[in-house]
Amino acid sequence: MRLPERAPAIRGSAINGWPMKQWTLDEIAWDKFDRTRVDPDVVRIVKAASLVEHNGGDYGTYLCNVFHDDAAFQTAAREWAEEEVQHGRALRRWAELADPRWDFAAAFAHFTGRFRLPLEATASVRGTRTGELIARCIVETGTSSYYTALADAALEPVLAQICRKIAADEFRHYKLFYKHMQRYQAAEGLGFWRRLKAGLGRIAESEDDELACAYYAANSTGAAYDRRTNSRAYARRAYAIYRPSHVERGIGMALKAIGLTPNGRLHAWLARLAARLMRLRLAVLARVGA
Ligand SMILES: [Fe+2]
Ligand SMILES: [Fe+2]
Repeated sequence: MRLPERAPAIRGSAINGWPMKQWTLDEIAWDKFDRTRVDPDVVRIVKAASLVEHNGGDYGTYLCNVFHDDAAFQTAAREWAEEEVQHGRALRRWAELADPRWDFAAAFAHFTGRFRLPLEATASVRGTRTGELIARCIVETGTSSYYTALADAALEPVLAQICRKIAADEFRHYKLFYKHMQRYQAAEGLGFWRRLKAGLGRIAESEDDELACAYYAANSTGAAYDRRTNSRAYARRAYAIYRPSHVERGIGMALKAIGLTPNGRLHAWLARLAARLMRLRLAVLARVGA
């Protein structure tokens, strides 16, 4: 494939073409951890998030396979994957402080034993590279809004600090994939409906096995795995932390990823609709005791 422009310039870091100061776990004020401010429901979703983030290395491998002839993107994808794994390490450490009996290694083995990425793929499971990168933008939209919401909702100060750092990374990841997506879109020229399909397809997958499996493996009670039960249990705790402002920003980023105006009337309407649907879903999940 001939690409019309060069990959984004690399200055100091492959990610986004600007010097990146990667934070470390030593920058987190672990000594400020306050057990009295820990919410057990938040511990459950943080444990699940630590498993998904720790699996970032496999996503990096998958992306390097899909973009096998794009060295610049591969370099960026490897750095990106390392940042995702670091998110997993930070969340793991916090979860271990909150629940010293939690066995991360067992939970992670349980998760990866159940949930496997298509590591053998040599082309995107989305059909096109543009579609793959739109899907990545959607994921980073979800994670940047999620960690912003979690940072705002967290009463425990160490978790709030971790989530603020992660949210900033996720937003930068969105920009990284968006930039590469524009490059591939210029070459592949995906029509609007295919871009919409790639975006909606990835949004629909947020209810798929990955998060349900992670929630199950992270909080295993010994019961047999049931996707619906675990997906609902996860959603109830995750949706509870969102405010309308988080939804608004997420909708804007998703619209931009598929090539629509991120702040027009459609955005305002969709943001109101999404916030309302989330509130309704939350009420239903609470009623059924998810
Ligand atoms: Fe992450
Ligand atoms: Fe990310």
